[in-house]
Amino acid sequence: MTRLGVRENVVRHASELIGATPLLELTRTGAGSRLLLKLEQFNPTGSAKVRMAREMVLQAERDGALRPGGHIVEPTSGNTGTGLALMALERGYTFTAVVDGHAAQDKVRAMKAMGAQLVRVDSADTDVPSTVERRRVAAEIAAATGAYRPDQHNNPHNNAGYRELAGELRADLSTDVDYLLGAVGTGGSLCGTVEELRRLGSRVRAIAIEPVGSIIFGGPAGRYWQTGAGSPAGFPVGGNVKYAAIDEACQVGDVDAFATARVVARRIGILIGGTAGAAVFAALRRLVQLPAGSTAVVLVCDAGEKYLDTVYDEDWLLARGLYSEAAQQRVHRLFDAYDASLRLAAADARRAEFDDDRALAKTGS
Ligand SMILES: Cc1ncc(COP(=O)(O)O)c(C=O)c1O
Repeated sequence: MTRLGVRENVVRHASELIGATPLLELTRTGAGSRLLLKLEQFNPTGSAKVRMAREMVLQAERDGALRPGGHIVEPTSGNTGTGLALMALERGYTFTAVVDGHAAQDKVRAMKAMGAQLVRVDSADTDVPSTVERRRVAAEIAAATGAYRPDQHNNPHNNAGYRELAGELRADLSTDVDYLLGAVGTGGSLCGTVEELRRLGSRVRAIAIEPVGSIIFGGPAGRYWQTGAGSPAGFPVGGNVKYAAIDEACQVGDVDAFATARVVARRIGILIGGTAGAAVFAALRRLVQLPAGSTAVVLVCDAGEKYLDTVYDEDWLLARGLYSEAAQQRVHRLFDAYDASLRLAAADARRAEFDDDRALAKTGS
């Protein structure tokens, strides 16, 4: 029976659940600076990237690039792919994901569960990075079949997909976002959010994080195990990395990135992905240097549950020389130092109050 006056809060499509993700304070300093996590794993598909998948698909429909019953093909490390798989099934398209051996197995399984076709590329026998090969194969499929290829590295609707995220930050905070940190792959999430924040009046500083070994910000090329972020040698950086919008870039190695993700899990009970671990590591190191009272936000691109076989598996880490107890202890010490600075600041405040009371009592007597 309908209860009169009760407005139901029920949606009919999973994509309507995109957005309104929570903010969690990870730590703060005695000087009142705080480090917040924008937990994008609370989106359907468990990642921020579903925001841009939706935007790219809806725009392609508006442009006529996608017609009823159409076909989408895109190379992906998994998070864009799960977003496209969701949009494709809701709107009646077929979706082909071109993946390589680096994609997290759980993301590949998730795409398959949602009905995506998978094309696997393997460039182990060649010098061509698998990301380059993935892209070539996707272009070939699009040319042969007439499928729509969103091209997330250059499609402006990738970045535009994060406008709502910026709006959420403005709505959920009583202060400005002084610093926004995020791992950069295509550049869409960090640059799209920052550009919209600024359009809304924010004076945010954008700090881009990439793996050591990625070449987006000019570092020497090398191997890295963080997936989704960074660009290997030979992969042309796309137009969605808006260098002019980024104030600082910072490289974080796999050992520190993964150690941080693991320590965060132990301390707060939320599992974040490896690239978020890198961004949190950079933020933890910077927080103490920020002007008192700053608000720093880290974009957590996805959930650690996607990396139980890798980042959260000691044997997997040990086999690749990525496990470091010392690195984890260093991260714990950063948290402990902030906790201690909070206790000191509280003790200082109590002492100041006590001194004020005494001064008042003296003048009163
Ligand atoms: C886990 C993860 N972190 C970071 C990123 C980088 O996000 P963007 O492509 O918006 O720069 C991605 C992109 O796929 C990702 O999957």
